[in-house]
Amino acid sequence: MSQVHPGVLPAAVREDFPLLLGADAPVYLDNAATTQKPRVVIDAVADYYRTANSNVGRGHHRLAMAATDRYERARATVARFLGARHADEVVFTANTTDSTNLVADVVGRRVVGRGDRVVVSGLEHNSNLLPWRRLCEQVGAELVVAPVDADGRVDLPAFAALMGPRVRLVAAAHVSNVLGTVNPVGEMTAEAHRHGALVLVDGAQAVAHLPVDVTELGADFYCFSGHKVYGPMGVGVLYGRRELLADLPPYRVGGGTVKGVSHHEPVRYVPAPARFEAGTPNVAGAVGLAAGLEYLLDLGMPAVRAHDESLVGAALEAVADLDDVVVVGDPGATPCGIVSLSVRGIHPYDVGGHLDAHGIAVRCGVHCASTFLDSLGLVGTVRLSFAVYNTLAEVDHVRSVLASARPGAWTAEHPTERFL
Ligand code: ALA
Repeated sequence: MSQVHPGVLPAAVREDFPLLLGADAPVYLDNAATTQKPRVVIDAVADYYRTANSNVGRGHHRLAMAATDRYERARATVARFLGARHADEVVFTANTTDSTNLVADVVGRRVVGRGDRVVVSGLEHNSNLLPWRRLCEQVGAELVVAPVDADGRVDLPAFAALMGPRVRLVAAAHVSNVLGTVNPVGEMTAEAHRHGALVLVDGAQAVAHLPVDVTELGADFYCFSGHKVYGPMGVGVLYGRRELLADLPPYRVGGGTVKGVSHHEPVRYVPAPARFEAGTPNVAGAVGLAAGLEYLLDLGMPAVRAHDESLVGAALEAVADLDDVVVVGDPGATPCGIVSLSVRGIHPYDVGGHLDAHGIAVRCGVHCASTFLDSLGLVGTVRLSFAVYNTLAEVDHVRSVLASARPGAWTAEHPTERFL
């Protein structure tokens, strides 16, 4: 449990994660659901509450200024991490789902009308599908699903063929949360822009694994969750191009969003990003998220990526001679921290239960992407998802436990049942 591929990330990384230490520590391979937190993040949150807790953007006393300063420094760190040109292009939200809902509600309702089209990819998580589906139902637009190829990526020629003047918005995952495959979001963005459509990229599964530069990518909106990138739960990010954000009405209205309110005059809203952050924000979450991003930047994204490659490569190699194990998609081409697999004749929940009984935490089922699983013809998958602290020894352990998986109650009694 301690050996990491030499020359990639040092084994000492594991020491940074208190929950993963000790004899009873899990082999934690559910990182696509949430990562464990390094000490620097836990300490940053605690330190904020110990030394600087106050409301932000409102008070004029010293503590309020200190809290506001930490909050805005966290925003600047996120901007630097994403390659945004300006810190005010970063809006703090609650999570990716909150970010996609914000854009669907505020942008979608302005640019998408009756008879228009919104294009999503065929591999979306419900959080980047349902807000668009609801928007289309509300305004009488059409939701069009771009096909995914056999390797598990958006089929670029098929996507390009869907573009046209009726397409007003494109929403797609950067990395599949089911397979870890990387979508060609740069090409998709360029293609959508040629036709005048706006683009939102869901980066929830990308940011912990790939260097992301939103300016280079050119997408109009990019979002992710703090907790999947070593930060706390309850804080997320919406990046939006400055000129777009400047032009948008608020999402939720309330404290912190206004310059002035009287009962008789039109309400004057403050500029972005505060315009989109009604109410007291999750300041400690933002501070913790910045600490998580700094942690990742200190490790270095090239080293993080090489580590991913070594773990995904080792996992693919490890299961290659297990006759009943079928790897779904092609994570080998651009490994992004996930290997999703099925075991022939065994329900994914039985496999997951067996792994759990041997101390291995994975997610099994449809991964909030049942429409994608439908298109793959699968009841679900067993998803191994890696992070900087995982080791080759853990991969070996998974292989030997997988080899001894047998059909259980799910296979016998609910062979086609699925949820989550
Ligand atoms: N979206 C997270 C996952 O894929 C929760 O598991």
